[in-house]
Amino acid sequence: MSRRRRIYEGKAKVLYEGPEPGTLIQYFKDDATAFNNQKKGTIAGKGVLNNRISEYLMTKLMEMGVPTHFVRRLNMREQLIQEVEIVPIEVVVRNVAAGSFSKRFGVPEGTPLPRSIIEYYYKSDELDDPMIAEEHITAFGWAMPQDLDDMISLSLRINDYLSGLFLGIGLRLIDFKLEYGRVYDENGDVRIILADEISPDSCRLWDIKTNEKYDKDRFRHDLGKVQEAYQEVARRLGLLHENVTEIAEPKAAS
Ligand code: TMP
Ligand code: ASP
Repeated sequence: MSRRRRIYEGKAKVLYEGPEPGTLIQYFKDDATAFNNQKKGTIAGKGVLNNRISEYLMTKLMEMGVPTHFVRRLNMREQLIQEVEIVPIEVVVRNVAAGSFSKRFGVPEGTPLPRSIIEYYYKSDELDDPMIAEEHITAFGWAMPQDLDDMISLSLRINDYLSGLFLGIGLRLIDFKLEYGRVYDENGDVRIILADEISPDSCRLWDIKTNEKYDKDRFRHDLGKVQEAYQEVARRLGLLHENVTEIAEPKAAS
C-alpha cells in the first residue's frame, strides 16, 4: 500500500491527499458510531456499500444539475473527490418525524410533517453538534447569507429528487443529513457544492409497506440485521450484482 498523506480521519471515513492538487481520496471505513461516539462498532462491508451507494446517488444528483464533490470511484472503498472548504454545518431535511425530532418535540416517530423541515446543527464533537438557527450561521460567519440560500435551495431539490428515487424502490425517505463545501474558481468566485456522503449512515429509509428500517437506526438501537439493511438498499438501487462476494471482505488495510 502506498504511503499516502492522511489529511483527516473522521468516524466513518478517512481523507487522503489526492493525485492532483485540489483533489482528495475519500476512504469509507466499516466503523460506525452513534450518539456522538458513545456507541461504537463495525458493520462488516459498510464501507464498500456506502462508497457505492454514495457514488450512485451523487452521480444521479449531478445529472440533474446539483454540484457535488464527487469525481469518480477508485476502488471498493475509495472515491476521488474535489477538495472543499467544509462548511461546519449539518443540514438535516425531515419529511417524517423520527429520531431527535420526535424526542425534542414529542411527535411520535412516523408522523408525516405538514411540509419538509430544514434544521441546522453545528459540527462540533465537543459541543455535541448543537442545533442552531440561521442567525447563528451568519452571525458566527460559518456561512454567508448567499451560501445559506444556496444550501437551502440545493437541499430542497435534493430532497425532492431523492424522495422520488427512493419511492421508486419501495423506500420512504424519512430524513437525511447533508454537508456542503466551498470551492473557489479561477476568478476567486465561491461556489457551494454538496460534499461528504449520502448513504444509509446519513439517511433514514423505511420500507413503504412494512415501515421496516433500512438505515443506521438498526445499529443505533440494536435492531439487528444491520449489514443486511445496507445491502438491501444497494440491492434495490440495482448495485448489488457487481462484486457481491467482496462486500463482506475483512477491513482493508490502509
Ligand atoms: P437525528 O434525528 O438523530 O437528528 O438525525 C437526523 C438525520 O441525520 C438522520 O437521517 C441521521 C442523520 N444524522 C447523521 O447523518 N449524522 C449525525 O451525526 C446525526 C446526529 C444524524
Ligand atoms: N454519527 C454520529 C456519531 O457518532 C451520530 C449518529 O449518526 O447517530 O456520533
